[in-house]
Amino acid sequence: MSRKRQIKFGIGLQQGGNWRAPDVRADASVSIDAYIESARIGEEAKFDFGFIADSAYITRDSTDHFLSRLEPLSALSAISVATERIGLVGTFTTSYSEPFTTARQLASLDKISGGRAGWNAVTSALEGVARNHGHDRLHDHALRYRIAREYIEVAKGLWDSWEDDAFPRDKATGAYVDRDKMHTLDHVGEFFKVQGPLNMERSPQGRPVVFQAGASEAGRDLAAAHADAVFSDFAESGDLERGKQLYADLKRRVQDYGRSADELLIFPSIKPVLGDTEDEARDRYRQIVESTDIDYAVKYLSRYFSFFDFGQFPLDEPLPDLGEIGNNSFRSTAEHYKRIARERRLTLRQLALIAAAPSDAFVGTPLQIADKLQLFFEERAVDGFIVLNASHRNLREFTAKVVPILQDRGLFRADYEHDTLRGHLGLPFPVNRYARARQETSPEAA
Ligand SMILES: Cc1cc2nc3c(=O)[nH]c(=O)nc-3n(C[C@H](O)[C@H](O)[C@H](O)COP(=O)(O)O)c2cc1C
Repeated sequence: MSRKRQIKFGIGLQQGGNWRAPDVRADASVSIDAYIESARIGEEAKFDFGFIADSAYITRDSTDHFLSRLEPLSALSAISVATERIGLVGTFTTSYSEPFTTARQLASLDKISGGRAGWNAVTSALEGVARNHGHDRLHDHALRYRIAREYIEVAKGLWDSWEDDAFPRDKATGAYVDRDKMHTLDHVGEFFKVQGPLNMERSPQGRPVVFQAGASEAGRDLAAAHADAVFSDFAESGDLERGKQLYADLKRRVQDYGRSADELLIFPSIKPVLGDTEDEARDRYRQIVESTDIDYAVKYLSRYFSFFDFGQFPLDEPLPDLGEIGNNSFRSTAEHYKRIARERRLTLRQLALIAAAPSDAFVGTPLQIADKLQLFFEERAVDGFIVLNASHRNLREFTAKVVPILQDRGLFRADYEHDTLRGHLGLPFPVNRYARARQETSPEAA
């Protein structure tokens, strides 16, 4: 009998955007205690994973908390020893780093955390990231995705360097390792030349879980070929039909690659605003929007366009057509903002506030929010949500008031049922390619 499909939840581990709020630590972006507290809130609520976003470029125009923030792998390693069950997903670029290093780091995190590591594989969308890594300009969007594909293939190959039972470490017999279960990748591709093997045994999940966060054509195609999960930001707009289209498209593409539709999970991010009554929620929402500094909001928006100078436009007149701007940056997000600006004839102020403040799509009482999450889930626009919020108090409010409603409805589990992130997400354990090849050539050896 197949189990009832259930909602999955991730929690944003970073705070700091609203550093002056009374319940946010001013130094939250560099406080490991603040990250750990977010992770514990998620773990107490039995969330599947915590998530850390990242990029490797800042400018004077970056918003405050981006100017100094913890590097994800270091933070996740520390969080892993302060938690037990929650998955730990970090953002690592495929454009300006080496797959051997990333594969080794993530396999180590998987080992340290007992099988909870995840990788948000991003292609980097800010021009300056290239300038910090020996290049004058960012690779074109299409090239970034070609590199990403080969990068992830190499990482997966390296994660199979050792068969699962290669290290018996038996003191009685003196058998430390079976070197016949070590495999050299010998990869020679368009962008990478990697011999292997990895100097890290097969990690508890076999391979850490791969997330992908681009929604352009090339992004979707990469996700369908190689990812276990996709982050998207469509739900921010509350557009159920758009969500259903993206969901159906990704599930179709994944099957075109010969994979099962269940092997790719779709997670939009949401920033819910709750109130005990609808009026209270609307009031809170209004206060958040009204207290959002407009300079901050314009800078926040401009980052999606690789820090395009929006200051040249008047704040309170409809934005002119932005043409190609943003196409080589956060393309699908930039396209979304350009489209809504055009369709709704938004001013710069309006668009910047939409980008920087939570959307009005998830504002309401706990019951209203739970109903909406259920609707998105049952209409197959999502498999789960990443809940982002600047304050621990707001995150706690969500886990204390909304999650129990979903649990009562049988839509979210009441306790962890597995130890690994793959287990939480219901993803299959990836069979080691060399063990499988051996089994196929001599089945009796299995
Ligand atoms: C929800 C979400 C989260 C993302 N997180 C990051 C991130 O942490 N770091 C980063 O460099 N890019 C991040 N991205 C950007 C994407 O990885 C990608 O580079 C960008 O969306 C452009 O690709 P696309 O045109 O395929 O959408 C994120 C995108 C989305 C939608």
